[in-house]
Amino acid sequence: MGQKSEVNPIWACRAFPAYPVVLAAVGDVENGGKCNVITIALVHMFSFNPPVLGIGVSPSRYSYNLFDQCPDFSINVPGKELVEEVLYCGQKSGKDIDKFEECGLSNIKGRKIASPIIQDCMVNLECRKVNKIDAGDHTWFLGEVVHAEMENCVDRERALMYWAGEFRVLGDIIRRR
Ligand SMILES: Cc1cc2nc3c(=O)[nH]c(=O)nc-3n(C[C@H](O)[C@H](O)[C@H](O)COP(=O)(O)O)c2cc1C
Repeated sequence: MGQKSEVNPIWACRAFPAYPVVLAAVGDVENGGKCNVITIALVHMFSFNPPVLGIGVSPSRYSYNLFDQCPDFSINVPGKELVEEVLYCGQKSGKDIDKFEECGLSNIKGRKIASPIIQDCMVNLECRKVNKIDAGDHTWFLGEVVHAEMENCVDRERALMYWAGEFRVLGDIIRRR
């Protein structure tokens, strides 16, 4: 084991292993409401049954009020072929532009939610908001997955991960349990 020294807890958290990256979409797509899409690495499963996922959104984001006000949102899992779009949606603000249009991402209404889903992604998870937790500089919006669609032969190796400024894909399988 390597030698250790005390480090600042704030940047030690950055050594947390790679986060999955998703595109979260929110808004009322059919009733003329504003819609937006944002790149999110703070995403986690909070319950398997019922299936509950959470996303951490900073109140400084333009999207924050949309997530706060809308009853639902979608979590869309992009493949690595969408890395440029993922970066764009994580650097540009929907305050001034339509990121769906700029990136050529489809924003059709979900089947069971008013918010859009992004069909270009390999998995679409439609979430109905069930909880909101202020955790510090990010607020967690928890949503029960009420409808889900995924590619028939979803290729896990296409999933995008993010760690310390670098996008990656999963590495080798080293053991099965
Ligand atoms: C790889 C990556 C991951 C990100 N993860 C998050 C996140 O988990 N939560 C968050 O609030 N912002 C996150 N961001 C930043 C937002 O996506 C970014 O500030 C975006 O431009 C906000 O869009 P908006 O102004 O349209 O809301 C991430 C950005 C990148 C590039």
